[in-house]
Amino acid sequence: MTDEDLIAAARQAAENSYSPYSNFAVGSALRFADGSVVTGTNIENASYGLALCAETVAVSKAMADGVRGGLEAVAVTGPGDAPITPCGRCRQVLNELAQLGGTDPLILCVGPDETRRVKLSELLPDAFGPASLD
Ligand code: THU
Repeated sequence: MTDEDLIAAARQAAENSYSPYSNFAVGSALRFADGSVVTGTNIENASYGLALCAETVAVSKAMADGVRGGLEAVAVTGPGDAPITPCGRCRQVLNELAQLGGTDPLILCVGPDETRRVKLSELLPDAFGPASLD
């Protein structure tokens, strides 16, 4: 599973976006150390503030299946004209899973012309995570 494959998986996931209120379809794909991939897309709600982001949905799917680490890379796709970066809440949600496995995943922020590659620790420096509660 190359980075391009991961981006393709995120784009595919966005096909299932339920975003009738924003019309902003986001896709995400998580790649794990064992080669497995878990995808997510944003799920909105008539009560607008209850929207679930694509990255949060993907992390929730993985953790609900028992995954607790090994997060190596995350691709995020959106319809905008610039690379899409995870929102603040999603950065925190991604950090929980990453810290559990002691990884600092590469975040592929996909845009129409370029993909921005950043580490999660760059997007969320000095993160509060599981170890902070020790
Ligand atoms: N959204 C995501 O899915 N991920 C992000 O990181 C940013 C925003 C979604 C939430 C909402 O459904 C739509 O994009 C517009 O904000």
